[in-house]
Amino acid sequence: MAHINDNYLKLKAGYLFPEIGRRVKAFAAANPDAKIIRLGIGDVTRPLVPAVLDAFHKAVDDLARAETFHGYGPEQGYEWLIDTIIGKSYKPLGVELKTNEMFMSDGSKCDCANILDIFDLGNVVAIGDPVYPVYNDTNVMVGRTGEVDAKGYYEGVVYLPCTEENGFTPDLPREKVDIIYLCFPNNPTGTVATKEELKKWVDYALAHDAVILFDAAYEAFITEPGIPHSIYEVEGAKKCAIEFRSFSKTAGFTGVRCALTVVPEELMGKTASGERVPLNKLWNRRQSTKFNGVSYPVQKAAAAVYSEEGWKQTKEVIDYYMENARIIREGLKAARLTVYGGVNAPYIWLKTPEGMSSWDFFDKLLSECHVVGTPGSGFGPSGEGYFRLSAFGHRENVEEAVERIKKKWGK
Ligand code: MLT
Repeated sequence: MAHINDNYLKLKAGYLFPEIGRRVKAFAAANPDAKIIRLGIGDVTRPLVPAVLDAFHKAVDDLARAETFHGYGPEQGYEWLIDTIIGKSYKPLGVELKTNEMFMSDGSKCDCANILDIFDLGNVVAIGDPVYPVYNDTNVMVGRTGEVDAKGYYEGVVYLPCTEENGFTPDLPREKVDIIYLCFPNNPTGTVATKEELKKWVDYALAHDAVILFDAAYEAFITEPGIPHSIYEVEGAKKCAIEFRSFSKTAGFTGVRCALTVVPEELMGKTASGERVPLNKLWNRRQSTKFNGVSYPVQKAAAAVYSEEGWKQTKEVIDYYMENARIIREGLKAARLTVYGGVNAPYIWLKTPEGMSSWDFFDKLLSECHVVGTPGSGFGPSGEGYFRLSAFGHRENVEEAVERIKKKWGK
């Protein structure tokens, strides 16, 4: 009989979102008349914008004729897409990147997980708490951790609490760590880091030869000026950071699948014998062997996001979601709930009323308001007593959900 990867058995429970789905399904089956509003998983609801759809259709038609047919593309992504993203999205920030430093993929979730392939298991990893659960769980899966304790912390991981006291931006670790996950704008708390805060991390990483894995999946939702959209806006970051970005939330590609990872040429790791090796080479080798690239029509659709018309339309959708975020934030405040986020991110992070646990609040909100959100404790032990609402819903549903919450708690 084949031996399994025992590390999988260390994982506490099922992945957060399927677990929520299971509870909602059970509630819906028992209450078929309930009009359930889903503001749980951050899944987009607006359709693809016309300019993107048009490019998508045309690219599919290209596949219908021998002269314009495309088979395997470059594993790293087509140069015309990469150069468009560099020119339209990084250059305006003052960030210069080379074509070979960007790798297109089918999602940031996969990239955040797959990047572990190029790092030794002996590295000490620091992870925010609460945070996107993929960072923690994938480290458990590869065997970098020991068992989980009663609180939900895995042995061997350095957790960086993100609390009300530190404004949900973690403090530097006291011990030396080798790999640091940062996510800004943050999922789940919706908070952002200023350039000074990011510089603190870059300085730490440079001083300790650490690598920052910077998840910028929500950068397009930043509304306030002066907040960095890329870690490379901080001097020296190319020597210590890998950045992940996604079309999922930015352009409604959760079902289409397209993302990118930047691994600068200057970024080095070291071998067991201390020799310095560029991580770009390793990631390129990994992708060339294990990945065959994003499909041609999807990359054409992604490029269209950056056409003049495409970006105008895309920005309108982003603004729609951010107006939802404002409605949720203001509405919950009016219900005298304590809320964070929702200004530079499509997530609203609220303190559960009456000291309820995150899952108790989930059950109450579902059973009494028929509204689905995400329990903060699902993102890490420090998320206990908090709850996340997503702004990606339909406007009328968002408004109705807020009214139901106000009715319940706003007295
Ligand atoms: C979330 O709700 O946190 C996200 O949708 C998860 C993801 O992007 O994979």
